[in-house]
Amino acid sequence: MNNPTEKMRIFSGIQPSGILTLANYLCALKRFVELQDAGHECVYCVVDLHAMTVWQEPVALRNAIRHAAAAFLAAGIDPQRSILFNQSQVPAHAELAWILNCVARMGWMGRMTQFKEKAGKDRENASVGLFTYPSLMAADILVYHATHVPVGDDQKQHLELTRDIAIKFNHDYRLDFFPVIEPIIEGETTRIMSLRDGTRKMSKSDASDYSRINLTDTAEQIAKKIRRARSDPHPLPGSEFELTGRPEARNLLGIYALLANSSMESVLDRFGGKMFSQLKSELTELAVAVLEPISSEMKRLADDPTELDRILGSGAERATSVAEPVLQKTYDIVGLLQSRRP
Ligand code: AMP
Ligand code: TRP
Repeated sequence: MNNPTEKMRIFSGIQPSGILTLANYLCALKRFVELQDAGHECVYCVVDLHAMTVWQEPVALRNAIRHAAAAFLAAGIDPQRSILFNQSQVPAHAELAWILNCVARMGWMGRMTQFKEKAGKDRENASVGLFTYPSLMAADILVYHATHVPVGDDQKQHLELTRDIAIKFNHDYRLDFFPVIEPIIEGETTRIMSLRDGTRKMSKSDASDYSRINLTDTAEQIAKKIRRARSDPHPLPGSEFELTGRPEARNLLGIYALLANSSMESVLDRFGGKMFSQLKSELTELAVAVLEPISSEMKRLADDPTELDRILGSGAERATSVAEPVLQKTYDIVGLLQSRRP
């Protein structure tokens, strides 16, 4: 992937639209911590304005913002080394998004699969925000002049659009202003699927709680959900080739590999020819061991919302000091008067 000695500016975000899942941990938070620990400049954001693109009950939204912040911290994000904040406290995101809305084309937005999935059949009734969501996502990233964006595989298309927006802006204004970002989507498993259906992604907004493992689940809940996870009637495959057409086996083995920090090949070696029941019981043990310290730290943090708000507030100040000059420079480039905000 990247040259490990290269200094990268990382940006990523997670929506506060429910309880964070094992997929958010394995494909996002865990990676965010690794990048922080490798010494990169990291900006991590609870993207509350994105969550609003579908209806959120106000009290639930406020709780979800603090819950997501607690998950970042419990997973190992250090608010001294990384900038951690919530999006709505830094108005430069929404302001740059407007300008990027005027750069992006209707046709580009219309191709986004996340919009099609979330809007469903009744597209006329989806919010305008849900449609323009990728411009705000591009603004999140570009307002920091971030160079690299770690995400799960489901966000790949949005990052390609961010690149297109940056390229078009640079071309329209004949400048090399916004960096053309590189996605960081690494590893053998970049998408975790629902425990009820190996062809759909695990999501915090899925109607069935049995489809996912939440970061706040107890050991008993984790055990029950894994026990009930969909399987198939055959012994587990022992090679990558035999995984074809067996999405549930691939998903559970992939989750095991990520939790154990091992390769798919060694997990296939270990479980090939065994029954699902054995994988499920070892997976439960491993998932509980990894998630227990995270969920207990989240619980501790949840009891102190004032402290969480303080951390987010000071993160927002630091984020503003990076974002505001980029926004003002953008205003200047496009021909707006620079504002004289303090
Ligand atoms: P979201 O929960 O949609 O705000 O996503 C936050 C981060 O978690 C993004 O980097 C997503 O790509 C990642 N993510 C969410 N769901 C999954 C999934 N089922 N598999 C892999 N990554 C995911
Ligand atoms: N769209 C992302 C998701 O649903 C969340 C997000 C918003 C994001 N802005 C971002 C991710 C900027 C990476 C960078 O998961």
